[in-house]
Amino acid sequence: MASRIVLNRISFHGKGAVAEIAHEVKGLFLKKAFVCTDPDLIKYGVTQKVTDVLEKAGLAYHIFSDMKANPTIENVQKGIAAFKESGADYIISVGGGSAIDTGKAIGIIINNPEFADVRSLEGVAPTKNKAVFTIAVPTTAGTAAEVTINYVITDTEKSRKFVCVDAHDIPDIAIVDPDMMASMPKNLTAATGMDALTHAIEGYITKGAWEMTDMMHLRAIELIARHLRSAVQNEPEGREGMALAQYIAGMGFSNVGLGIVHAMAHPLGAVYDTPHGVANAILLPSLMKYNAAYTGEKYRNIAVAMGVPGAGNEKTSLKKARLGAVAAVEQLAVDVGIPQNLKGIVMEKDLDFLAESAFADACRPGNPRDTSVAEIKELYRALI
Ligand SMILES: NC(=O)c1ccc[n+]([C@@H]2O[C@H](COP(=O)([O-])OP(=O)(O)OC[C@H]3O[C@@H](n4cnc5c(N)ncnc54)[C@H](O)[C@@H]3O)[C@@H](O)[C@H]2O)c1
Ligand SMILES: [Fe+2]
Repeated sequence: MASRIVLNRISFHGKGAVAEIAHEVKGLFLKKAFVCTDPDLIKYGVTQKVTDVLEKAGLAYHIFSDMKANPTIENVQKGIAAFKESGADYIISVGGGSAIDTGKAIGIIINNPEFADVRSLEGVAPTKNKAVFTIAVPTTAGTAAEVTINYVITDTEKSRKFVCVDAHDIPDIAIVDPDMMASMPKNLTAATGMDALTHAIEGYITKGAWEMTDMMHLRAIELIARHLRSAVQNEPEGREGMALAQYIAGMGFSNVGLGIVHAMAHPLGAVYDTPHGVANAILLPSLMKYNAAYTGEKYRNIAVAMGVPGAGNEKTSLKKARLGAVAAVEQLAVDVGIPQNLKGIVMEKDLDFLAESAFADACRPGNPRDTSVAEIKELYRALI
């Protein structure tokens, strides 16, 4: 079967990229933007960096921000009603994965109203029409939601996060401007950066990985190892490196899938509202160990990309190179202040539900090692 790669129609990268929005919108004769963002981004003046560009160019817009992090079905449904009332003809999503994913779900349902319940979009959604024209402007350097064909919505009634996979939802234009990320506090920079590393590692070892996505993931791992610590210190070079790295990881994993780190992180977001990047970062090292024997030479390449001395030397055993890769990931997580376990997050009484939920997650089948509910339960337990 042929391998498929879906990417944005156009993407802009680098400082000042937000200014390109005005030019693109005018060229396409779009009339009114539905700016999909979250309340904190309005409070901290991040959304304003985009609305200033629109105002300066005399372009009309309507702001929608009635959402929370780990967005819910209700957030999406309110957004659909707001879009219909707004008279907008396109979406500009400004935010982290939460705002961009909400924008994706709104844009899909507006053009495919038979999915208005939102839940029926879970998994590979058989939509017929492309989403409303969307420009996505990430403000975190992690999810790469601006270039992926996925979005993740929380079903509060069932305490589940569900993943929707649909090439119709990829934003048409991505604006990846490190200035939009400069206001991220240290802990958010660290968590979202570790999410990007998780995408790159899981995407690299997933069952569907192939030459072209391997190229993207290895480059992303190298850039993250080089730039995440500096981004956490809010240094411009680190911010630029992470903006690019997370996007490159997104170009890859969006097209091949992930694995059990994400499958096990999603229930933590749904049940305890754990930030997505924190959940991934805590789980990643121990699940790398769990998967190690099913990854061929790939951990050696990860170790090399992360700068582990001697890992690329053929005299270094595969076992040692694998341990080196895991240790490098663990060290990076420690250096950027990520907690080391799930103590105080996961409760013993929830383990059965969490394990069943992770097993049912759309990311689980991509894991290189086949797993089971019982094994997933033990993997959670080992961290509490
Ligand atoms: N679509 C995808 O492919 C994909 C991939 C991975 C994760 N996700 C989903 O994305 C969501 C997580 O997104 P996220 O990690 O980007 O965080 P987020 O969007 O949930 O944002 C977290 C918090 O950080 C704040 N914030 C964001 N940018 C900021 C900035 N520049 N300055 C100050 N504060 C800022 C937000 O206002 C919010 O309060 C989860 O729901 C996750 O499941 C989606
Ligand atoms: Fe993620």
